[in-house]
Amino acid sequence: MKKVQDHYFHKAKKEGYPARSVYKLQEAQKKFGFLKPGHKILDLGAAPGSWTKYAAGIAGPNGRVLAVDLHGLKTGGLNVEFARMDIFSLQPAEFRQEFGSFDVVLSDMAPATSGRKDLDHFRSIDLARHAFMIAMEVTGDRGSFFCKVFEGEDLPAFRKELQGVFRIVKLFKPKSSRSESVEKFLFCSGRRK
Ligand SMILES: C[S@@+](CC[C@H](N)C(=O)[O-])C[C@H]1O[C@@H](n2cnc3c(N)ncnc32)[C@H](O)[C@@H]1O
Repeated sequence: MKKVQDHYFHKAKKEGYPARSVYKLQEAQKKFGFLKPGHKILDLGAAPGSWTKYAAGIAGPNGRVLAVDLHGLKTGGLNVEFARMDIFSLQPAEFRQEFGSFDVVLSDMAPATSGRKDLDHFRSIDLARHAFMIAMEVTGDRGSFFCKVFEGEDLPAFRKELQGVFRIVKLFKPKSSRSESVEKFLFCSGRRK
């Protein structure tokens, strides 16, 4: 297992990404192909900035990425903007008024872990649900949503909520995510009319 961690850690360093988490988004992109040139992408929980850097590379000069986090980024780019904030400080509708609309919403947000599995799970679902509310406000009919969740008892209910809004909802565990980690990802697209 250690060997796998080392592999992704060193690969990220070599390729100029500040965190190994980039490979989770890269695997999702290979599978679902949802990030496109020209896209406006909202990256919630973006620090230190690996997803932002990867997404900005795909969005290109005609697209943009708005990165949001409590902490600063260690990366940037001409098509990257950064807002330092707690996502709970704005209601989803206020979020749209402040930042406009987007094609894709990403959330790799994770709570500061407490060591209590159930508490961390509920906090993770709270973050994912707020990200989902923001995604519903800022994306239109063709928008997609990709978010991290920690496994636990509320995940099936959250998945059902997503299925009420999106036609495609896939639970995804990237190979680059440590097998002992409770994290999983939900890819959602195709807004129901
Ligand atoms: C796993 S890291 C994200 C890594 C990032 N995707 C990357 O590739 O570099 C999770 C991030 O979620 C952020 N976060 C957690 N709760 C947040 C909140 N309420 N508002 C904004 N960001 C939050 C944390 O500050 C942390 O930087």
